[in-house]
Amino acid sequence: VGQGVLSAEVFPRVDGQLHVEGVPLAAIAREVGTPAYVYSAAHLRARAAALQAALHGVPHGIHYSMKANGCRAVLRTLHAAGCGIDVVSGGELYKALAAGVPASDIVFGGVGKTRSEIAEALRAGVRVLNGESRAEIALAAAIAAEQGLVLDIGLRVNPEVEVTAAHAYIETGEEGHKFGIPQGEVPAAVAEALALPALRLRAIVMHVGSQMSTLTAVRAGAERLVAMVLAAREAGARDLDLLDLGGGLAVRYDDEPEADLAALRDIAQRAHAATGCTILIEPGRYLVANAGLLLTRVLYRKTSGDSEIVIVDAGMTELVRPALYEAYHRIEAVGPVAGTITGDLVGPVCESGDFLALARALPDLRPGDLVAVHSVGAYGSAMASTYNARPRAAEVLVDGERWALATARESYADLVRLDRETLDWRTA
Ligand code: LLP
Repeated sequence: VGQGVLSAEVFPRVDGQLHVEGVPLAAIAREVGTPAYVYSAAHLRARAAALQAALHGVPHGIHYSMKANGCRAVLRTLHAAGCGIDVVSGGELYKALAAGVPASDIVFGGVGKTRSEIAEALRAGVRVLNGESRAEIALAAAIAAEQGLVLDIGLRVNPEVEVTAAHAYIETGEEGHKFGIPQGEVPAAVAEALALPALRLRAIVMHVGSQMSTLTAVRAGAERLVAMVLAAREAGARDLDLLDLGGGLAVRYDDEPEADLAALRDIAQRAHAATGCTILIEPGRYLVANAGLLLTRVLYRKTSGDSEIVIVDAGMTELVRPALYEAYHRIEAVGPVAGTITGDLVGPVCESGDFLALARALPDLRPGDLVAVHSVGAYGSAMASTYNARPRAAEVLVDGERWALATARESYADLVRLDRETLDWRTA
């Protein structure tokens, strides 16, 4: 499972037919139609276990960053496997609680929390709320004081390290980025938090980027966090017992290396030894990306100029990553297909950016063939849209020989459910 998409255990081919664990994808397509996201429970559990093993012996907590995939069946599976949840909005908090995750297993981050989101987090009693600016921390204190509560607060800091992620859009921990408290302001933020009786300063937090394999930036950031924890203790922070390294662990999409878990262990161990803190991490992609694939069906084939074009029934509405980050997702035919072509695999959406693969070696697909787009468990359904009035796709969870519908496909009626049939005009 460490090998991600290459794992023949999770995605075996039996008699030429691609399966997820013990279930043929063709059977799922027959029952729920296409496009559909299909997730492997065994892979989710194995990835949680891999992180737990890597951090074994270091007091730690793993909070799954549910922005990667907020399907409640996925949340329940990972929570049952020992993960807490990292949420970044009132909606995510609502979904995590609705999945049965207790608030004490939830950390709440996010760069722009509203007054009502902060109040919801307080009311629920989350483990820690991570403030990303001094103004936000002051507001959180005021809300806690109004409610007569004491809030466990973390300071999300920007350690301002050099980050190398797969795409500039997923680098977050460099100077000038919008996330976190700039490192120069941290002493002032600590002093302010300590002066507010409605706050208990519990954590120093960072998240420097995503899809990082070497963890050099995490190591550099962790060293800065350790110094901040020690300085905050000097300044009187007696309840500061959590050091959160964020997420960002890379997975294999193609042939790139996965995140170095031995390095993660070493970083966590050193940070714990230096501070005594429990080490938290917030992985999203690492836990879910290679647990899921997007099942889609070929509609048409055509040639345009020199390009061979395969049109499928999924596109940027189901998987925006290729359009947004020029991301690579491995493509495989579900049934046996003889021969390969070089071509584009594209969706039906009216955008030139609507492609799943460009100028790639593809199986010689024909209309009606089923196709698996791999590594879609993270930031697939979570970033889906209904552009072109396309109902959102179904989500299926496979567990051994069994499978279940986890999220029903949206209907046309859902597309007009919230807009008003007639307008109830008012005047100010
Ligand atoms: N913690 C915080 C504060 C974050 O902002 C993120 C991701 C994570 C944890 C989880 O990061 P992960 O372990 O999944 O790398 N849509 C992009 C990724 C955006 C990541 C945003 N923040 C993509 O599809 O690559």
